[in-house]
Amino acid sequence: MRKKIVAGNWKMNLTLAQGEQLINDILQAGLKLQDGQEVVVATPFPYLLKAKSLLKNNPGFYLAAQNVASEKSGAYTGEVSAEMLKSVGVDYVIIGHSERREYFLESNAALAKKIDLSLANGLKPIFCCGEPLEIRKAETQNDYVAKQLEESLYHLSAEQLKDVVIAYEPIWAIGTGLTASAGQAQDMHAFIRSQIAAKYGREAALHVSILYGGSAKPSNAEELFASPDVDGGLIGGASLVAADFVAIIQKLA
Ligand code: G3P
Repeated sequence: MRKKIVAGNWKMNLTLAQGEQLINDILQAGLKLQDGQEVVVATPFPYLLKAKSLLKNNPGFYLAAQNVASEKSGAYTGEVSAEMLKSVGVDYVIIGHSERREYFLESNAALAKKIDLSLANGLKPIFCCGEPLEIRKAETQNDYVAKQLEESLYHLSAEQLKDVVIAYEPIWAIGTGLTASAGQAQDMHAFIRSQIAAKYGREAALHVSILYGGSAKPSNAEELFASPDVDGGLIGGASLVAADFVAIIQKLA
């Protein structure tokens, strides 16, 4: 049975005090996670240690970083390495978010290096893929996403892939309030799973958790998560409000 995950991507938001309050509000909401269900909180780098101290005694709750360096260590001012993230207790790391691909020109090849370094340091990658609006309008989204998977993931062994979570985030739905329909999400998730099956076999494909991200809210999460190939969500704006994030977690099937 593959993991069902709701991950909150805070992006570049909140002060430390606000973040601490948010995590405490989530932990005090009385969530009863079932076996195989996970909640992941992806904070900005400066808050990782404090967030870990709050999350660590709560089974089912995990910490993520929002990025990782594509080099092991050394003269890369401002960068944060996979080894550093592991040393402060990070469990997952978001890799290839569309905002980083756009603003920081992260290529599929660079993301492959980030994934390798993350896995080598015991971090679980949450690999983001998804198409821009013009690709969706041209109806070539499958080819677009297949290329992202091939160039960033397909160098991995089947064993390595077991620690990878995939997040499908249609760029045109991120932060826009324009959510992909449950049918659109299911279609792409099923396609992604079919691509993994073709490369690694059916067992590997059935094991990989595929999350949906892009204006997921308490009002649409239940329908999205009810889709057979949607294994949870990668939540942006709604993860900054404890009540909304908790409400989305409660929709996990
Ligand atoms: O990483 C999740 C994020 O890109 C989705 O953002 O605000 O549309 O939920 P949002």
